[in-house]
Amino acid sequence: MRTLITGASSGIGLALAHAYAARGHDLVLVARREEQLRSLAAELERSGIDAKAVPLDVGDTDAVVSTLRALDREAPIDLVIANAGVGVPEGVTDLTSWEAIGPAFHTNFCGAAATLTALVGAMVARGSGHLVGIGSLSSFGALPLSAAYCSPKAGLGMLLECLELDLLDTGVAVTRVNLGFVRTPMLARSTHPMPQLLEPEDAAERLAVRLATRPAEITLPEPLGTATRMAASLPRPLRHLLARAGRKFR
Ligand SMILES: NC(=O)c1ccc[n+]([C@@H]2O[C@H](COP(=O)([O-])OP(=O)(O)OC[C@H]3O[C@@H](n4cnc5c(N)ncnc54)[C@H](OP(=O)(O)O)[C@@H]3O)[C@@H](O)[C@H]2O)c1
Repeated sequence: MRTLITGASSGIGLALAHAYAARGHDLVLVARREEQLRSLAAELERSGIDAKAVPLDVGDTDAVVSTLRALDREAPIDLVIANAGVGVPEGVTDLTSWEAIGPAFHTNFCGAAATLTALVGAMVARGSGHLVGIGSLSSFGALPLSAAYCSPKAGLGMLLECLELDLLDTGVAVTRVNLGFVRTPMLARSTHPMPQLLEPEDAAERLAVRLATRPAEITLPEPLGTATRMAASLPRPLRHLLARAGRKFR
């Protein structure tokens, strides 16, 4: 199995790289920070894994598409995990401005969309493949001061479900992952409560186990997912009242 993971230099992507290395997968590791990627690839190579570091900004969608296709021509990629993402930006005063939301849209939506669609044609032609998008429970409903994060993640969820519909019966599986809180650098400066917080290694191991069955959707942790879905189905005025009550933590 050859697996490509974006955002492999840190957090969940790094933990996924180790989880799949433990399963003997060949790995293609993508992120912007070349040094981290190269030292991870070297570490994995020392334990007998074929690991390739590919420094790339997923916001450069043309480069993503051409690079993934070239990599796939070298050796077919079986599993693509679009994991690269950024959180709510820091140091921007108006969190509803384009300056605030633009970079997160490019990375979390356009970058993920390019990653997930670049190899669709090749995978369909082979009649096999698995596309995975790492989304968030925050895509289930609007949160205060989080347009930069919730909106592209909601778009990513919709993209994954559309791909799932369109790729039915092609042999290519699509999985939408909805994660709760995971202790990674993305949350390092967050001060709001983080119920049911997962360690990245635990999240990655649970994902790798469940992804092996190629399900359409994975929600982790499930209790928080159920509570979030219930909150998202409340009438809008009540939902907004609850969301604004949470605003004091931001
Ligand atoms: N942590 C959570 O609680 C949580 C919850 C739900 C969903 N998620 C999602 O999980 C994914 C991983 O996040 P994380 O928590 O592991 O955060 P993280 O530790 O900050 O890792 C983010 C990864 O994405 C990469 N990345 C960011 N922008 C990129 C770009 N433009 N091009 C290429 N790579 C880029 C980063 O690498 P470089 O900086 O080297 O490029 C890094 O490897 C994200 O999609 C995030 O939204 C996280």
